[in-house]
Parts: sequence; structure tokens; C-alpha cells
Amino acid sequence: MDDLREKYLTLIKDTSDEASLEELRVQAVGKKGEISLKMRELGKMTPEERQVAGPALNALKDEINAALGAKKSALLDAALEQRLASEWLDVTLPVRPQRQGSIHPISQVMEEVAAIFANLGFSVAEGGQIENDWYNFDALNIPGHHPARAEMDTFYMHRAEGDDRPPHVLRTHTSPVQIRHMEAHGAPCRIICPGRVYRADYDQTHTPMFHQFEGLCIDKDISMANLKWVLEEFVKAFFEVDHVELRFRASHFPFTEPSAEVDIQCSWDNGVLKVGEGDDWLEILGSGMVHPKVLENSGIDPKEWQGFAFGVGIDRIAMLKYGIPDLRAFFDSDLRWLRHYGFSSLDVPGLHGGLSK
Ligand code: DAH
Repeated sequence: MDDLREKYLTLIKDTSDEASLEELRVQAVGKKGEISLKMRELGKMTPEERQVAGPALNALKDEINAALGAKKSALLDAALEQRLASEWLDVTLPVRPQRQGSIHPISQVMEEVAAIFANLGFSVAEGGQIENDWYNFDALNIPGHHPARAEMDTFYMHRAEGDDRPPHVLRTHTSPVQIRHMEAHGAPCRIICPGRVYRADYDQTHTPMFHQFEGLCIDKDISMANLKWVLEEFVKAFFEVDHVELRFRASHFPFTEPSAEVDIQCSWDNGVLKVGEGDDWLEILGSGMVHPKVLENSGIDPKEWQGFAFGVGIDRIAMLKYGIPDLRAFFDSDLRWLRHYGFSSLDVPGLHGGLSK
């Protein structure tokens, strides 16, 4: 019996997998196992021998069973340990975003602007990027000899030899959409017109193609006070601040009378711009009361209707809001830049959820 104990305890101790452990169990305590066979021999013994051998054999069987059980759970524990080690995962690590593409800051800002003005009752109107003289200039009270035409560095389209009509232009501003909208829909109206505009100019703050949005509000009882309130609401919502001073500086645009350029209050701390604090000013838009001639040119009676208009550089306010130093990078299509400054396509700007979050 001592030999049997010694043999099986050693074998059990040395097994390293469940299958051979099971084989050992069958070999020792299975129906035809060595210890089971020994127990059958008890029948042939004298009662005295049986009294000694019976309990001893039972104890041996119990001991072997216990060793088998302990080894089995040790093997299971070891297997689990190994699995845990190989399938280890740190759930506190941030997920790796798998973005296929991103929303360009210009598109993002256009969406933000549309969300803000929709909340003020404005809808979005669009016009073509190729305009004729009349819509881009004359209808806006910019006659042929007017210096504003020369100042705008206009791109003129080619005309066939012998065709004396004035050439088409790439629109130099979004203001022509005002005329087209009033012509088509009359008064009253409240619109913004975002889109691309073109001027022959190129440096750190100018590109030949850039973006503006025009605002237009025509009704029967509109004054500069309405303009001021709307612009204040816009600036606060856009820059996501509770308070900001606006400065209206008298200016001149052919299509508005009176005209004002609008600056926003800001501070520059170590090159970081903060809107709504400090005592610096940044010009962000041109505005005014729509000139009676412009209303007339659009088929609207200026004695009955009046309103305000404004024009904002989208690229400029995008640079200010998102800290983008060079305008030209907007249009380089550099993937690294786009990944850095781009927005998730699922975060649609809205006033309730936060414009840029
Ligand atoms: N069209 C002007 C520009 O491109 C911007 C502008 C100024 C638009 C005043 C307006 C306005 O509607 O009232 O420089």
C-alpha cells in the first residue's frame, strides 16, 4: 500500500495537463484501477486481516482522490491565469478614434453660423460663383468708375473675340445674392448667404478664393438697433462667450447708408486671442442699412421697406475662433493639418448641444 501511495502521489504531482491526470485517475481508482482491484481482494481475507486492510485501503483511496482533486483545480487555475495574462486589456486606455475623414473648419464654421442665424429666424440662400457685372457691381450701387471695382482685384472671365458685352466675373463678394434673393422673393426677408468668393490676392491673410457670408434683413420697421442686436447675438453665440463689446465704426460701402465696420473686443495674451475681454479690437465685418438704390434695383420700394445687411469673412472668424495662424493652410489639403483642425462628422453644430463641442 505504501508503494501504491508513493507511486500515485508522485505521478499526480508530476502531471502537467488534465488529460494525463484523468488517465492516472482511471489507472488508480477507476473501476479496474489498481486500488479498486486491491479493494476486491478484501473479500478473500480473514475478518481480522480485513479489519486492518479495509480502513487502510479506504484511507488510501481517499488520499489519492483528494490529491487528484487538488491537482485538477491547480491545473484549472493555472490555465485560467495563462488565459488572463494573454487576453489582458486595459479598459482605462482611451479608444483609438478611427476617423476616415473630418469636417473642414470652414464647413464647420458655416454650419455654426447657419445654426445661430436659423435660431434668429434667418434662412440660407445661395447664388452662383460666376456673376455678371450687374449683380456683382451695378445693382449694388457700384458703377463702372467707382474705386471699389478697382480695389476688389476682380477675376474677369474671358469673352470671345468681338463680343463687346461686359465680361462675367468670379464674384468678389456674396452681396450679389442679396439682389438675386430680393428680386426672386421680394420683401420681407431674412437670409444669410454663405459661399466662396474670389479676389486676385495672396499672402498670409489673403487667398484668391475665400469665404464670406452675407446677411440681409428687410422689413417695414428695421433700424440700426436691430442690426446691432442681431450682430451682438451672433458674436456671443459664435465665440461661445456670455458678454462681448462690439464697436461700430462709421465707414463707407456703396450698397449701405449709413455704413459701419464692426470690431469685437478682445485680448492678446502671449499670442493667445480671447474674445470678449481686454481692450484690443478686431475688425470682423462690414454692415449698414441697405441703400435705397439697392432696394430699387431689386424691385423693392424703399419708401415702404428698409433693412440692414452685413458681410462677414468666414475664413477670418474661423481663424480667430480656432486659433489657426495662416489662412493659406486652409486650402493646402495637408492631411496632418486636416486631422489636427478638422471636426468629427457626427458632431453637428447646434445651439442646444454646444456649437463646437
Ligand atoms: N461686400 C463687402 C465686402 O466684400 C462686405 C459687406 C460690407 C457686405 C457691408 C455688406 C455690407 O452687406 O452691408 O467687402
